[in-house]
Amino acid sequence: MYRAAALAALLSLSAAPALAADGAQLFNMQCKMCHGGSVMGPTLNGVAGGDIASKPGFAYSPGLKAKGGTWTDANLDAFLKAPAQFAPGTKMLIGVPAEENRAAIIDYLKALK
Ligand code: HEC
Repeated sequence: MYRAAALAALLSLSAAPALAADGAQLFNMQCKMCHGGSVMGPTLNGVAGGDIASKPGFAYSPGLKAKGGTWTDANLDAFLKAPAQFAPGTKMLIGVPAEENRAAIIDYLKALK
C-alpha cells in the first residue's frame, strides 16, 4: 500500500514536466505581483490583441512606447521571452524562458478581459 503510493508519487513527479503548464498558476506566481492592480505595472486585462503600451494611467517606458503595434501572440511571445530584446529600454526586466510556460501564460492573458 505504502509502496504503491510512494511509487505513484514518484511517477507523477517524473511526469511533471510533460504535464500542461497552468497559465493561471504561472500568472499568479510570476506576474500578478506587478500586474494585479499594483502601481508596479499596467493592468493586463484585455492586453492580448490590444495596442502595445496603451493602458491609460500607466507611465510606460519610452522604449515600449516606441515599439508600436499590437500584442499579437508572436509579439507577446517575443516580449515574454526576452523583454529588453523586444523593446530596448523597457521597464519590465524579467522574462519567461520556458516556451511551454509562455504559451500557457499567453493563453491565460487572452482570457483576461
Ligand atoms: C517586477 C514587476 C513585473 C513583473 C513581475 C512582470 N511585469 Fe510585465 N510589466 C512590468 C512593467 C513595469 C511593464 C511596463 C514596461 C514598460 O513600460 O516598458 C510591464 C509590461 C507588460 C506588458 C505590456 C503591457 C502593455 O500595456 O503594453 C505585458 C504583456 C506584460 N508586462 C506581461 C507580463 C507577464 C505575462 C508577466 C509574468 C510572466 C509579467 N509581465 C511580469 C512589470 C512587471
